[in-house]
Amino acid sequence: MTTKIAVFASGSGSNFQAIQESIERGELNAKIELVVTDKPNAYVVKRAEQFGIPVFSFSPKDYESKATYESEIVKALKGKSVEWIVLAGYMRLIGETLLTAFPNKVVNIHPSLLPSFPGKDAIGQAMDHGVKITGVTVHYVDEGMDTGPIIAQAAVEVVEGDREATEERIHQVEHQLYPKTLKRLFEK
Ligand code: GRF
Repeated sequence: MTTKIAVFASGSGSNFQAIQESIERGELNAKIELVVTDKPNAYVVKRAEQFGIPVFSFSPKDYESKATYESEIVKALKGKSVEWIVLAGYMRLIGETLLTAFPNKVVNIHPSLLPSFPGKDAIGQAMDHGVKITGVTVHYVDEGMDTGPIIAQAAVEVVEGDREATEERIHQVEHQLYPKTLKRLFEK
C-alpha cells in the first residue's frame, strides 16, 4: 500500500526533493500529498511546484494562535487522507493539535547526533564545540524541541574550520538516511 504523507518545510527543501526523487525511482512506496510551509516565499515552494505537488502555505501571524492554524492544517491533511507528517527543515514546534491528530505519526530529521545540539543551528553548535564527529538523527516528534524517541542515526566527520563543507556532508547523508528510514517505518 502506498503511504500518503505530507512534508513540512520552511526553507530550501532539499530533503523534500530527496524524498520525492526516491519515490519517483520506485524505492519508497509513498506519495507526497501536500507540502506545508509557514514561509510562503521559501524555495521549497518552487521545488514543490516543479514536481506538481500542492502546497499549503500560511503565515502564522495571520492566525490567533498555533491551535488555530494547526486546525486548518489538520483539516487539509485529513481531506487528503494523509497518514504521516514528515518534517524536513520545518522551523516551528509542532503543537498539541497536530500531535493529537497524528499520534506517533510525526517524524523529523535533525542535523546532529541527538541528544547533542538540539534546536537551531545544530551544525554551528557542533563546530563551535569543536566536536570531530557529528551527524544526522531521524526521530519521532513530541512536544519538545528535538526530544522524541530516536529512530535512526548516521555519523558525519566534521571538516575542521569549514562549515560549508561540513554542511554539505551532512546534507548528503540526510538525503540518503531520510528516505531509507521512511521506507522502514512505512513497511512496518
Ligand atoms: C536539514 O539540515 C534538516 O536536518 C534540518 O533543516 C535542514 C533542512 O534542509 N532540520 P532542507 O530545507 O531540506 O534543504
